Amino acid sequence: MPGDLVHLSPSERRERLKAVYEQARVCRDCGLAETRTTVVFGSGNADAALMFVGEAPGRTEDERGVPFVGQAGQLLEQLLEEIGLTRADVFIANTLKCRPPGNRDPHPHELQACQHYLFAQIELIEPTVVATLGNFATKLLRGDPTGITRIHGQAEERLIGPRRVRLYPLLHPAAALYTRSMVDVLREDFARLPALLALGPPVQPGPPAQRDPPAADLAADVEGQLDLF
Ligand code: URA
Repeated sequence: MPGDLVHLSPSERRERLKAVYEQARVCRDCGLAETRTTVVFGSGNADAALMFVGEAPGRTEDERGVPFVGQAGQLLEQLLEEIGLTRADVFIANTLKCRPPGNRDPHPHELQACQHYLFAQIELIEPTVVATLGNFATKLLRGDPTGITRIHGQAEERLIGPRRVRLYPLLHPAAALYTRSMVDVLREDFARLPALLALGPPVQPGPPAQRDPPAADLAADVEGQLDLF
């Protein structure tokens, strides 16, 4: 289609994601490196049309190295199941790859230091829909301070890096865990995801972006992490 970006082959996409992961795995760009157990890079289908972006790893995620494996993750999986999807169909990442101590909110300088990993993930995975879970992911990817309660469930086209995506703000499942009415809102918003995905990707701007190969020499063995992608 005219205006479309060149798509990566599945193997090239995985190679490049692995290179970004190798960078993140040893990242010490902010103080969270001092307190994390594991860098939680992201997990799921690297070819997914639907990508979720949460806030930051919690305790269970920090221990296991996989996003959304605690209680909020269980709710996310249930909501996915209700629209006929599983974790294996989607890619899940966070704004921060390391756990803030005591699950405190991300600090602005941490978001600033970490965001290039998320932007690289979105560029490489090439999702059609990026569903932001909660305020931090929504504000970061919209570049705007509007709160999630005002805009959840309202899809909009947004340029993220070189690509246009359908950005879809959602309440954070952790916020909904103990409030029945919020689960209902989240469920209603999830129910619109299949139709949003069926629209396909937005028309892309301009000529294909030049994609430089990863700069660093990242040929180390990451076989153990292959299931993350
Ligand atoms: N909450 C998040 O935002 N991310 C996780 O990975 C887990 C809980």
